[in-house]
Amino acid sequence: MKTKRIFIDKDNIDKELIEEAGRIIKEGGLVAFPTETVYGLGGDALNSFSSEKIYKAKGRPSDNPLIVHIASMEALDPITEDIPENAIKLSRAFWPGPMTLVFRKSERVPSETTGGLSTVAVRMPDNKVALSFIEASGGYIAAPSANRSGKPSPTSADRVMEDMDGIIDMVIDGGRSAIGLESTIIDVTEEIPMILRPGYINGEMIKRVTGSVSYDPAVFGKEEPGQKPKAPGMRYRHYAPRGQLVIVKGEKARVLSYMKGELEKCREKGISCGLMVCDLKDTVKDFEASCDLLFDMGSFEREEEIAANLYEALRSFDDRNIEKIYSMEFYTPKLGQAIMNRLIKAAGHMVIELGSD
Ligand code: TXA
Ligand code: MG
Repeated sequence: MKTKRIFIDKDNIDKELIEEAGRIIKEGGLVAFPTETVYGLGGDALNSFSSEKIYKAKGRPSDNPLIVHIASMEALDPITEDIPENAIKLSRAFWPGPMTLVFRKSERVPSETTGGLSTVAVRMPDNKVALSFIEASGGYIAAPSANRSGKPSPTSADRVMEDMDGIIDMVIDGGRSAIGLESTIIDVTEEIPMILRPGYINGEMIKRVTGSVSYDPAVFGKEEPGQKPKAPGMRYRHYAPRGQLVIVKGEKARVLSYMKGELEKCREKGISCGLMVCDLKDTVKDFEASCDLLFDMGSFEREEEIAANLYEALRSFDDRNIEKIYSMEFYTPKLGQAIMNRLIKAAGHMVIELGSD
């Protein structure tokens, strides 16, 4: 299959091109498209064959449900059984935006789309290209992140093409994803809204709207043995670069000196190695010289930048076939929980904790 790549400018949307993308979806094809979080791999959410195609294109287990993307509040009613009060409050506060709500599903939604669950996850993305594409497609786009299963999510059309060229019908290039981390998933079927996957909309922001918030233990990797995460996707290996990623935790000076030692060891053994760091200031050149690729994530003072860089950093180590990657922790005030949730998964929970003197 030849994958057609088109560019759409959000400030001057080409109607004909968007209609063409919409037609592909209506005919049961797949189109990757930009959102403010990450790129999505879209198909018709109400067509079970399209959902099956998505699982195949991603190489994803079909019991891991897809998010249904809508472009207006009117689209919500036909696909849900009931809309709880908290959902109305949250959607008013954060839609369109990086938040997904889990509802009881109506019969309109095929069980292929929801991985067999009786609930459906819904999101209205904050991206003009995405919204017009959803409208042109009939209003309901099922879309996981547009990466092959297990790999870091794509935040640009180039990264989508890397994984999906020749596999899907079209990629809409709408530039870099502004946020760079997938949406916050909140189960609103619970009395107290429950965060299933952390994201840009954090617990504090939710609490301000609903008065209370809870967390699925899987968010912290603290589920009891045998207990399943409520978002099935949270149990799979995820976001991982091919090389081994190790997170080093502790006081900054110690972390850096530990990293330096490890980089030297890698060099001696002929292992290619990389670093993910921020705020190194004057010493950055020094560290750059002692590894094969240093990815400067930005600064703790600009946490949005760290989030937006995360997946691009992980994929750039693969570009260079880096075998071992050391990363600092990025527990920043607002986005730290979401960033570290992804980073720890990417590292397969490989965290080294350095004690203090
Ligand atoms: O920002 C995002 O959410 C991006 C963009 C493209 O919108 N999408 C995304 O989709 O991250 P995906 O498929 O990579 O992750 C969806 C997550 C999975 O962990 C899945 O298990 C969970 O949402 N999920 C979907 N439906 C669910 C449901 N009914 N109940 C609980 N979790 C659900
Ligand atoms: Mg994903």
